[in-house]
Amino acid sequence: MYNPDESIEFPAKAAAEHRYDDFSILLHWVTVVLVASLWTLGQSLSFFPKGGPREAALSVHILLGITLGAILLVRIAWRAGAGRRLPPADSGWQGELARSVHYGLYVLLGVTVALGLSRVWLYGNHVFDWFAFPRPAFSTRSVIRTIGGLHADLADLVVIVAGLHAAAALAHHYVLRDSVLRRMLPGKRKTRPEQ
Ligand code: HEM
Ligand code: HEM
Repeated sequence: MYNPDESIEFPAKAAAEHRYDDFSILLHWVTVVLVASLWTLGQSLSFFPKGGPREAALSVHILLGITLGAILLVRIAWRAGAGRRLPPADSGWQGELARSVHYGLYVLLGVTVALGLSRVWLYGNHVFDWFAFPRPAFSTRSVIRTIGGLHADLADLVVIVAGLHAAAALAHHYVLRDSVLRRMLPGKRKTRPEQ
């Protein structure tokens, strides 16, 4: 049976020929759509008229955020278990950089989601008329503002780092013309690495 960890020693070119498993690919692209929607909606919140419309927009943001948090947990569990892990497509410092960026993205996403959830809990937000988070007694305006500000800053950082990561993937595809981008695209997969 193919063991992803064994492929660590394979030459970079052969490694780049592989694909992630279908579920990892699905989780990756669902994450991309959720992050793009969350950031765009987060940035547009102030354009919604105060009151009902803005609260509805924020409710959608919160629900999408909770969904992203759940997807992230599933993704980390899948990656740590049955999911296919591939070695860096590049060798040397570029491979190390790619690996660090990937881990960095997981951490940044986790912290951004945690700060978003904390902000919701500290403020005691409503989600439509469905339910409200119980606001803790120790919560103060300045704590809420600080956590909200950190959430916004990290959300921007996620988008910047993910943008650079996407640019690197596109450069591999269109400039270097190798198969790194195809590792994360659905399609026919080779079941065993070339040796
Ligand atoms: C990676 C995922 C997320 C991204 C990219 C994101 C992005 C954003 C952005 C850009 C804003 C606007 C900040 C501003 O300029 O005022 C915002 C606000 C907010 N987000 Fe998120 N968000 C994410 C996840 C979450 C989650 C998981 C929750 C909670 C379940 C959440 C709750 C909130 C709340 C309550 C606000 C309003 C904050 C305030 O007005 O101080 N977000 N988000
Ligand atoms: C919010 C945006 C994005 C996030 C958070 C994100 C996150 C990630 C993470 C965490 C990995 C590592 C997978 C693993 O080994 O577990 C990864 C891999 C990958 N991503 Fe993204 N990604 C984003 C957007 C994109 C976009 C837009 C593209 C393409 C244009 C892309 C292409 C790839 C490719 C090709 C890989 C595999 C790289 C390799 O095997 O060396 N990603 N992504």
